Amino acid sequence: MSAEQNRNQETDHNKGVIGQPINRVDGRLKVTGGARFAAEFPLENIAHAVLVSSTIANGRIESFDLSVAQKVPGVLHIMTHENAPKLKPVPSNPAEGDAATRRVPLQSPVVYYSNQYIALVVAEKLEQAKRAAQLIRVTYEEQPPAADMRGESGKAVPPKSRGGRKPESVRGNIEAGLSAADVRVEELYRTPTEHHNPMEPHATIAVWEGDKLTVYDATQYTYGVRATMAKTFGIPEENVRVICKFIGGAFGCKGTVWAHVGLAAGAARQVKRPVKLVTTRQQMFANVGHRAETEQRVTLGAKRDGRLTVITHEGNSHTSVYDEYVETFTSPTRMMYACDNFRAAQKLVPLNVGTPTYMRAPGETPGMFALESALDELSYKLNLDPIQLRLINHADTDPDTKLPWSTKLLKESYKLGAESFGWSRRTPAPRSMRDGRYLIGMGMATAVYPVVHFPSSARVRIMQDGTAIAESSTHEMGTGAYTVLTQVAAETLGLPVERVRVDIGDTNLPRAFVSGGSATTMSVGSAIQGAARAALAKLIEMARADNRSPLYGASPDQIIAKDGRLARAGDSSKGETYGALLARAGMKEVEASFDMQFNDREKTHSSHSFGAHFAEVRVDPDFGEVRVTRFTGVFDIGRAMNIKTARSQMIGGIVMGIGMALMEATVMDTNFGRFVNQDLAEYHVPVNADIPAIDVHLLDSFDSHASPIGAKGAGEIGIVGVAAAIANAVYHATGVRVRELPITPDKLIASMSRA
Ligand code: MOS
Repeated sequence: MSAEQNRNQETDHNKGVIGQPINRVDGRLKVTGGARFAAEFPLENIAHAVLVSSTIANGRIESFDLSVAQKVPGVLHIMTHENAPKLKPVPSNPAEGDAATRRVPLQSPVVYYSNQYIALVVAEKLEQAKRAAQLIRVTYEEQPPAADMRGESGKAVPPKSRGGRKPESVRGNIEAGLSAADVRVEELYRTPTEHHNPMEPHATIAVWEGDKLTVYDATQYTYGVRATMAKTFGIPEENVRVICKFIGGAFGCKGTVWAHVGLAAGAARQVKRPVKLVTTRQQMFANVGHRAETEQRVTLGAKRDGRLTVITHEGNSHTSVYDEYVETFTSPTRMMYACDNFRAAQKLVPLNVGTPTYMRAPGETPGMFALESALDELSYKLNLDPIQLRLINHADTDPDTKLPWSTKLLKESYKLGAESFGWSRRTPAPRSMRDGRYLIGMGMATAVYPVVHFPSSARVRIMQDGTAIAESSTHEMGTGAYTVLTQVAAETLGLPVERVRVDIGDTNLPRAFVSGGSATTMSVGSAIQGAARAALAKLIEMARADNRSPLYGASPDQIIAKDGRLARAGDSSKGETYGALLARAGMKEVEASFDMQFNDREKTHSSHSFGAHFAEVRVDPDFGEVRVTRFTGVFDIGRAMNIKTARSQMIGGIVMGIGMALMEATVMDTNFGRFVNQDLAEYHVPVNADIPAIDVHLLDSFDSHASPIGAKGAGEIGIVGVAAAIANAVYHATGVRVRELPITPDKLIASMSRA
């Protein structure tokens, strides 16, 4: 079926709900404080837990002196490795299998990293727990930490697991590709450690009733928390309920079940009361993951005419000393450009830090900074326009898998982006554009993110009162999940959005997977569409079989569902409302479930979202200050389910990319193994004054292969390539190539006068 036919079928009778820029259905709750986040559930008799963190980065605890802390009024319990419940180590993310068995804290005196949890205080009041936590005295036996990735690079080892994404691959003949090249770029690019910094901290409330556990948790993966808690405490999964109705930002750091969740549940069991635990911002810098530092060597070889003859992409990222996480920066390079000779390899440097984790477009984000910077460098060596160079090497099929693309509107992205941005006004030579005393530069880069789907289940209930409820235990991270899922259900059911409610974030609802990989809309949206169709089919069967119905005896294809009614195609006066049909049958509701599976789709097509970024910068030639003055992004994300929330996703990604390019970096004190800028005063993220008006275009597309609802992924692609577009613009403005992020004034001042 062609995309066009498919589109017609998908939107048949109720066109126009999906895609509309409707306001967020949870907007009112959000702005009135009615949206309840994990730490905000009011429970009777709740006790407060505070975590104590280690002050050393490597060694062991010799002893605790709890005597003063225990005397603080209201203290109920102090948990250390000496009295903690035995918690079983389990994969933090069951999808990763045994490869990622996380160390459980408070099970031994060993300290692996600074700020590691070493004790937990439970008290009647938060202030009492905080005070007691300050009064715990710890004696350590301290070892020097491994904290400097560059210094430790001799210890780099190949990864054991690959987390489903291959960091290593080879095709063709590298030597032949190198000798065929007329021009080469061989450079080293670096990206620093970065932290997610969602506004909402990680938080857990744990409540036991006998051997049944309820957890209110800030998580991207309710069912993952459920599975992990069941294994940790050796109880059946059915005994664990996890609730998460809203998340105040996540970006990947809430996709993994970190240690505080089990510690809160363990403490609640020991004190026999509900326990609330909220991490501090400083603890979040150590214990809930971060984007690993990378050092990436990229080699490009090309013919004079611009055709690539070879690409190699190799390098290191860090992991912790007790677990493995691979920042798969080579993964986009495999498929991005047509090139027969390709090699990628990655190694890991173990450090005394908490284990890194997924952060918005993990792999693609640092990887495309390196690749797209290198392409830009090559364009100058070849005297080719950067867009032209990319068009010359455009991959018409996936060069890695040799499969056709499901859909790919990358050329269209370059074209529309260039037009909208005004690329033709760019004069090619570096340092050739000025605005008064400022240097002006224009740069561009490609964006890409793979289509990822997860099996997802949903239930849809059509109620006698003419409303409907769609249910699945997925998550609202601020991305707009409540809104777009409402639109999918409403359009499929032929109901206005005001009469559809979406209920998510509770393991009492049908199973959904982690809200990560930009997969939620595709996966859960398709499940909800399937369940809605199945529920409607039940209503249609009821009507056909009911001799009191105006639709009695009609064939199913003669019946259409629209405006809350079933009616005969061609004569809408012959019909009745869903409510009337249910009322006559004496039924309060009809419900249907659907399990969405995406079996083997990757075997026939390669699916990715694509896009192009265009940045204009203004650089102060004396002080090296870089301001982004204009930004255009064009994206092929398949069908946009709501053009307002989809645009917001892109804008959010671009803002995060501007932060990555110009300010974000977590700085390690390598002597002590501590991150020094562990708060929002010192870890700089962009503020409004740093962000220009961002021009976002979404290309019209429907990818029936990516998902039945036509969507590809939207959550992560917005950030991919932004830092390269800005670095390329900075080079164009100044003639200085910065290959190490972030592009701070110190990296420009010294070189600019010479350039
Ligand atoms: Mo995302 S970094 O896959 O939560």
